[in-house]
Amino acid sequence: MSPTTADVAHPAILTRVAEARHAAAAARRAGRTVALVPTMGFLHEGHLRLIDAAHSAADDVWLSVFVNPTQFGEGEDLDRYPQDLDRDVRLAADRGIEVVFAPSPDEMYPFEPGMWVVPGDLGAGLCGASRPTHFRGVLTVVLKLLEIVHPDVAVFGRKDLQQAMLIRRLVDEFHVPVEVLVAPIVREPDGLAMSSRNVYLSGDERHRASALSRSLRAARQLYAAGQRDPEALREIMIGTLEDSAVRVDYAEIVSPDTLRTPVEASDDTMCAVAGFLGSTRLIDNAPLGEPCEL
Ligand code: PAJ
Repeated sequence: MSPTTADVAHPAILTRVAEARHAAAAARRAGRTVALVPTMGFLHEGHLRLIDAAHSAADDVWLSVFVNPTQFGEGEDLDRYPQDLDRDVRLAADRGIEVVFAPSPDEMYPFEPGMWVVPGDLGAGLCGASRPTHFRGVLTVVLKLLEIVHPDVAVFGRKDLQQAMLIRRLVDEFHVPVEVLVAPIVREPDGLAMSSRNVYLSGDERHRASALSRSLRAARQLYAAGQRDPEALREIMIGTLEDSAVRVDYAEIVSPDTLRTPVEASDDTMCAVAGFLGSTRLIDNAPLGEPCEL
């Protein structure tokens, strides 16, 4: 009996850059388009929806799982970042992917990094203000992944708004031949944006964490009631966060193109927050006037 798809080892798990290059080149030679979903693993439904979006954009979907050390700052959670590759492979296989690329740090960084993709102004505010080396690590590893796989499409989540915008800019400025798709935010029933870091939260912190999405909802409601002043919109977000004892990193009203505060808010203006519950830093964002998942 000839093997069915279920009998064939699926997905392929590749750990070497050379293997990934060859497999990607073979897919291209066979006339197949490839979509890459870059992740740091410990998958949740937010990641899995990126895989779903990738399926509608290309023939084969590749998932990368790599906890990228260079995007973590001093004293951040690199050492305790949750990892479970077997579980990731199972979950991703259920969503039908061709390849999991899961390299080691030495494989991705064969040299002590001597070159970086350093973001300009777009990387300076919001998360870049409190994590000054974060985006250089993200952009550098994303460029590496795009150079290894050469996907037709790369899929990211709007949960990391600034990251998604910087990656679009990276691709445009460096003429990387890939289409960047940005998918909506997937949330828990109480509104909390799904994140691999949510496992760090204690019961009480988990309860209070819904303040991030509630702060965005409050800003959206105030905007719907006619408020256009960014400062007033910021204040209601900060109030909502502080009422739940979330230590505010930032609460900003920003234009989706520049990530700067506009003089007056409009429908596509974004509200974006970051805050700490204990030592766990969470982020979230939403458009002020456009329909969204909130
Ligand atoms: P990670 O945090 O694992 O996220 C991988 C991708 O999933 C990112 O594009 C992120 O925006 C998206 N994502 C996470 N939570 C989501 C949610 N609740 N809804 C929708 N999308 C969500 O982001 C990274 O990894 C890394 O910085 C990476 C790009 C892989 C580079 O190392």
